[in-house]
Amino acid sequence: MHLPRGIAGVAGFLGLATRQFEADSAVYEDSATGLKFASYTSDRHVIFRVAIPDVIPTTLTFDTVLQIVSPIEVGWAGFAWGGSMTYNPLAITWANGTNVALSSRIAYGYYTPPVYEEAKYTVLKTGTHLNATHWQVTALCKGCSRWGDEDMGFTEIDPQYHTTFGFAYGNTPVDTPSSYSTSFGIHDSIGHPIFDLEVAKNAGFEAKVAAL
Ligand code: HEM
Repeated sequence: MHLPRGIAGVAGFLGLATRQFEADSAVYEDSATGLKFASYTSDRHVIFRVAIPDVIPTTLTFDTVLQIVSPIEVGWAGFAWGGSMTYNPLAITWANGTNVALSSRIAYGYYTPPVYEEAKYTVLKTGTHLNATHWQVTALCKGCSRWGDEDMGFTEIDPQYHTTFGFAYGNTPVDTPSSYSTSFGIHDSIGHPIFDLEVAKNAGFEAKVAAL
C-alpha cells in the first residue's frame, strides 16, 4: 500500500508502520550452507547472522540458525536473542584449539552468565570451521525464538517486525577454553543491532538444516 508521504510519516511516528526504522542487517546468501541469513557486521568485523524458516507458526515457537564469524584474535563473541544482556538466551562462542565452541547461557545480572538448558544448540558441521585468521560457527537453536516462564513472562521474536538483537565480545580469551561452562571476563564491545528477519526466511528450512 502506498500512503501519501504525510500520512505515512504520521503512521510511522505513531509506531503504526511495522518497519519504520532502517535495519542494520543486510541479506547474506551463504553458498556453503545454502541458507539465506540476515547479517550484521560489527565494528571489529565480528559478523552475526540469523536464518529462520519461511513459515512462522502463530505460537512463534520455531527453530533458528545462528552463524558467527570472528577474527581469531577476539577472545569470545556472544549473541543475545532478546537484545539485552539479562534474561534472554545468549550464545557464547570461542576458539578451542582446532575446534569452535558454542555455549548456551543466560545472564541474571552483570556477571558471567551461567549455562542455560532451555535453549539447545546443535553445531552444524557445514559452516563451522577455524583457520589462521577467523573462526566461524553455524548452529541450529531450539528455544531461541521464545523464552521465559510464568514468573518473568514470555518473550518471543516476531519476524513480522524488526528485531533488536544484542552482541558482545571480549578481547581476553575465556578462562578454560575446553570447558562448556567456563567463566570469562567482561566485554570490550557491545551493541544492539536491528535485524530485518524477513530476508532471513528460508523455504525448506528444516530439510536444508538437517543436511548440514
Ligand atoms: C563476564 C561476563 C560479563 C560481564 C561481567 C558483563 C558485564 C556487563 C555490565 C557491567 C554491563 C553494564 C554496562 C553499562 O551499563 O555501562 C553490561 C552490559 C551489557 N552486556 Fe554484559 N557482561 C558480561 C557478558 C555479556 C555477554 C555474554 C553478553 C551477550 C552475549 C553481554 C551483553 C551485554 C549488553 C548487550 C549490554 C548492554 C546493556 C543491555 O543491553 O543489557 N554481556 N554487561
